[in-house]
Amino acid sequence: MEKILVIGPASQMLGVRIRRELRIKSVNTETKTFPDGENYLRINIDDETVIKNKEVIIIQSMGPSARGNQNARFLELLMMIESVKIMGAAKTIIIVPYLAYARQDKSFRIGECTFAKNILKIINSLGIDEFFTVDIHNPKVLEELSCKAINIDSMSILAEYIKSRGAKDIVVVSPDKGAIERSKAFARHFGENVPVDYFDKKRDVKTGEITMKGQLSLKNRDVIIADDIIATGGTMAQAIKIAKENGANKVFAVATHALMLQQATYRILDAGADEIVGTDSIDNEMAKVSLAKAIANYL
Ligand code: R5P
Repeated sequence: MEKILVIGPASQMLGVRIRRELRIKSVNTETKTFPDGENYLRINIDDETVIKNKEVIIIQSMGPSARGNQNARFLELLMMIESVKIMGAAKTIIIVPYLAYARQDKSFRIGECTFAKNILKIINSLGIDEFFTVDIHNPKVLEELSCKAINIDSMSILAEYIKSRGAKDIVVVSPDKGAIERSKAFARHFGENVPVDYFDKKRDVKTGEITMKGQLSLKNRDVIIADDIIATGGTMAQAIKIAKENGANKVFAVATHALMLQQATYRILDAGADEIVGTDSIDNEMAKVSLAKAIANYL
């Protein structure tokens, strides 16, 4: 079956790279916001045979940016899915490299919902055939989908990039204990005996304020601090500060989804990072590593 890629407004760079990897045709979208604040999206085609009876792959990340917040990104995704269904797509494959709301996977306080699940339930209700995401905060929420769902791992490509930057005597540090297994898996990409350690991070569930402690032996080691998301940079900045106090040499701040909100870049560099590394799941200047090949391999 012929494939066609629909590139959503939040994944222009990655979308075109995937199209080149797959050597298939792509179409983009036209978006606007109505005067009353409602979102509008149409797939930029004049003839529905472009979509009809095709295997349609839709890519749309959901990171907030000056061009659109995550709520708009989500609505645009739903609009793209519905449009291709109306036009008679034979198969619908959805790629959401960064899934917004994924951190709301648990109810931390009475009265909260677990909205990560609902985001997926809503996508699922549109009748999709396959769903791909990358390093989702909690893979368990993918169980809400009744179709094939894959969480793509970006660790090996991030590791390749860091090796190319000449990091040596590496220690991988997890900014919180909960992410230690992920950090261990990441460390294996740098060699068998690369040490892994973690900081003790606590977040006040009411204020969101972070506190972090840790006594690690990092003297003269290049330290890689790996997280799934950099949002405001608070977590990374605290981890970097402690790493530096513990004698770290170079520090790489690495995240699959480097959202870089507010003063994140300043906070992380000011804390002592030598480099911030993200992927093109988010279309910004930290996107030094492309997910295109990794995603294309699944398609
Ligand atoms: C939280 O559990 C995530 O894994 C990240 O540590 C968090 O999203 C980072 O947020 P921020 O950059 O605002 O500290």
